[in-house]
Formats: sequence, C-alpha cells, structure tokens
Amino acid sequence: MFRILRQLCCINPFKGDVPVSRVWITRPATRGKILPFPTRGNYHQPIDILATFFAKADTDRGRAKHNRYLEIPGFDPLMVTRDPEVIRAVLTATGAGEGRLDRDTMPSTGIARATGPDTLLFSNGPEWQTHRKASAKAFGKTSLFTDDVFEKFEHTFRTNVQQRITELEHYFESTTTTEIELTLEPEIKCIMMEMLLFNFFGAKVEPQDVRERYIPAIDKIIEHIVRDTIDQQFEFNPFRKRKKNGCDPELECAFALFEQLTDLSMAARSEGACAWGRVDDKWNDEDLRSNVKVFLAGALEATTSYAAWAVSHLARNPECQQRVFNEVRSIDSFETAAIDEAQHLKNVLRETLRLTPSLYFLPRKAVTDTWITLSDGSRLLLPAGTHVLLDVWHANRQQDFWGVEKTGYPADEFHPERWEAADKTGHSKEYLHFGFGHGARVCPGKHLGELEASLVVGGIVKLFEFEAVEERNDPKAGVSTKPMDGTLVRLRLRQP
Ligand code: HEM
Repeated sequence: MFRILRQLCCINPFKGDVPVSRVWITRPATRGKILPFPTRGNYHQPIDILATFFAKADTDRGRAKHNRYLEIPGFDPLMVTRDPEVIRAVLTATGAGEGRLDRDTMPSTGIARATGPDTLLFSNGPEWQTHRKASAKAFGKTSLFTDDVFEKFEHTFRTNVQQRITELEHYFESTTTTEIELTLEPEIKCIMMEMLLFNFFGAKVEPQDVRERYIPAIDKIIEHIVRDTIDQQFEFNPFRKRKKNGCDPELECAFALFEQLTDLSMAARSEGACAWGRVDDKWNDEDLRSNVKVFLAGALEATTSYAAWAVSHLARNPECQQRVFNEVRSIDSFETAAIDEAQHLKNVLRETLRLTPSLYFLPRKAVTDTWITLSDGSRLLLPAGTHVLLDVWHANRQQDFWGVEKTGYPADEFHPERWEAADKTGHSKEYLHFGFGHGARVCPGKHLGELEASLVVGGIVKLFEFEAVEERNDPKAGVSTKPMDGTLVRLRLRQP
C-alpha cells in the first residue's frame, strides 16, 4: 500500500542526487493504450511497452525525463532508464565481483527453458564467471582475426551466394527481366547459420539441411521462447516441469532437431576443429552443451538482426550504399586489413547498431543495496531487489544525447557520417550505443559478429544493387529486433 501511495504521490523511492520521475499509470497518456508491462495481448510490441514508461516525460526537466520508477504493491521496484550515463553506470556495476547488480533473469526465462539454465547468458555470480572463462578463448579477437580464418568464412559466403546468383541468372534469363523483389532476411540467416556451423564450430552438416530443417526448427523455438517467457513470468519456479513441447508435435520436432544440431556442433570437438581447438580440455562436454545451444540460437538471432538492419538501411540510402560499394568493389579477397580499410562500411555497421540495436533492452537486478556513480559524480541508490530496465533502443534515439547539437545529425535518422566527424574530433569513444553491451557482461561474440556482418554486408553491396520496396523501416521485436518487412528489396546483379 505504501508503495502505491509513493507512486501516486510522486515520491521517488531511490536515494541520491540523480533525479528519477514516476511512470504515469493514471493519466490518459497510458490509458487505453498498451500497458507498461508485457501480457499475452501485447508481448509482440515490446518496443511500444518500453515507450509507455516515458509517456509525458517531456514535462519533466533534465535527467528526470530519462529515468523513471514504477512501484506496484507485491512487486519489487522497477527503474527504467534511457539515459546513457545511467546505463553505463549500471553496466559497470554489473558482474561477479561484489555482485551488486546481476543480469535480471526474468526476461530470459524462456531462453533458459529451451537451452538449460546453466549458461553464460542465464547464470550470475561465480557460476557465470566459470562459463565466461570456459568460452573466452574461443571468441578472442586475436584467434578470430587472422587471414586464414577470414578465408574460411569467405569460402562459406561465396559458396552460398554463388548458388543464389546462379538461380537468379536463370530467373532473369527466363523472364527477360533484370530485377527481382526479394526478402533478404532468410538468405542472410542462412549464411549466418552456415558460417557459425561450418567455420566456428567446424560442424559437418549439409547446407540443404541447414536451410530446410535446422533453421525452421530454430525459428520455431525462438517464437516459442518469446511466448513462453510471458507465460512463465508469474510462475514461482519456471523449471518445475518442462511442459513446453508436450502438446505441439511441430515444436517437439523442432526441439529434437535442435538437440541434433547441438550434437553435430559438439562432435567437432574431438577433432579440435575451429573454435573447439581453443577450448580447454578441463571442461566436459556436459558443462558446455547448454552454452552451445545459446550460441546457436542467440548468435543466429543477433547476427541476422545486425546484417539485416544494415542492408535495410543501405536499401533506403542509395548514396551511402554507393560509398560502401566504392570501398569494397576492389576487394577481391576478404582479409583482416580489409575490415580496417573499409571505414565507411565500419561506420554503417556502427550506426546500424546505434539506431537499430539487435538487443533493444538490457535487464539488470540489484542483488544488494547498490550505489551507482555517474561520470559527473552524482549517485543513485538502487535498493536490493530493484529491477532495472536499460532501454537502449530509446536511449539511442534521444536528441539530448545523439541529436544535431551533440553529433551533427538528428538522433532518429541513419547517418553513418556522424561517426566520421566523431572520430576526427576524438569523441567517438564517448558515444556509447551499447550495441554489444558494456562492462563485464559485454557480448563475447562481438568479434565474431563483426567479422560476419562485415563480410555479409560488404559482400551483398559488392554483388548487388538494391533499394527498399517500402519507404518505412519499422522494427519487429522478439528476442532481438529485425526489420518488419523482412528486408524486402528490389535487387539487381551488379555487372562483374
Ligand atoms: C553480431 C551481433 C551481436 C550482437 C549485436 C550482440 C549483442 C549482445 C549484447 C548487447 C549483449 C549484452 C547483454 C547484456 O548486457 O545483458 C550480448 C551478450 C551475449 N552475447 Fe552477443 N551479440 C551478437 C553476437 C553474438 C554471437 C555471435 C554470440 C555467440 C556465438 C553471442 C553470444 C552472447 C552471449 C553468450 C552473451 C552473454 C554474455 C554474458 O552475460 O557474459 N553474441 N550480446
């Protein structure tokens, strides 16, 4: 009762000198619209749910408009922030060290029920540290960024794309046309999955099986994970009984294929193939199995999202696409130096993660009463149990942080040039977009993701010319965000 009174009377539950304002739950701005928490009716609009926390925020001044609290009887307090300084401070205070803030496991319950809870993603504290150590070397930049590794990834990309090009050439010949409307997201997903399986895990899988059996299975599981998380949110013990696939034969079959794919990915360990060669023998297969599942499903989602968004933005920015083409047209083999030299492509990828981050919010929970400190010295006390939602999607679209005054371009538009200017003035390091997270729990797959996205986006621009069929570039969001139109483009082959 005390909590709801505090909420209604605008009494900030958090001590300190960082201003936090309340989420409006009683004003017309939220009434009749979507509710500020996920339900079975609204769970497919998570970005809109996040936006409701900031309804009427413009009436608040300074930091208070970007930091909000919500207190409801029976629940721990919630803080939602779209303030990069607060996001950075929370992420810096997260980790196994003193365990002040952990990853809030509630939003990833569905993932954990599908993969097992003993993973790098779902665990916290010392257990998380062990998982992190076990996988660190496999993802290290020095082991991935070698010309030899790049060549193998490129081979997978070329083989896949060459087959598609041959099909396109037949189609153009038979129809006497030179262009086709295509949704590129499924093609990108297929290439990403092949690279992960063939070049990261060294798995022996037929490309046709990847496309026709395993990807549809993972898609089905991802769809299930999102719904399952909502269904389990008020369940006291979500791991009590695994009923997930009991009554849906298609889902049951998808889980069986997922197990099969995990076996195939782990089979290459005995040969020390690819990344397995960098995993210490002291870890048993059973210690690693759930993580392999997280990598298979999570990496597929995140890398597809990243590259699909980049292509989607380039399809709406022909001049930008031309600049990338000018950079990559003369690159004949994908070598490590190529990534450094293709500066505009690099800025396109940075801007993509800023404007359309794959992971659109990062959940945290205070394990003990935790003070966070901002760079100006101001502090905020998050009481034990507080859920913290770091709303990266909206933070990266705020004019206050990313607008013309700060970066030279509007915050809600795609302008890779903002990074050029920032690099020149030395400010780019201060531009925190959290696309790969920050702090101890930063994405371990960052270098692998960058390698794959540069190859796929650069390769697509080199081989094809494309423009968006629809003008709007809206997001759809589940485990990650993706373009709503499936990256629908009108596509032509470039002249060799
Ligand atoms: C290229 C696109 C990718 C993006 C944009 C991305 C984004 C992120 C972000 C933002 C986080 C931090 C989450 C948080 O702080 O709560 C994260 C964590 C994580 N990512 Fe990625 N990721 C990508 C690729 C990958 C790949 C390729 C893998 C593995 C093969 C991977 C595996 C993970 C894991 C296991 C975590 C949890 C790490 C931990 O808690 O210690 N990611 N990712």
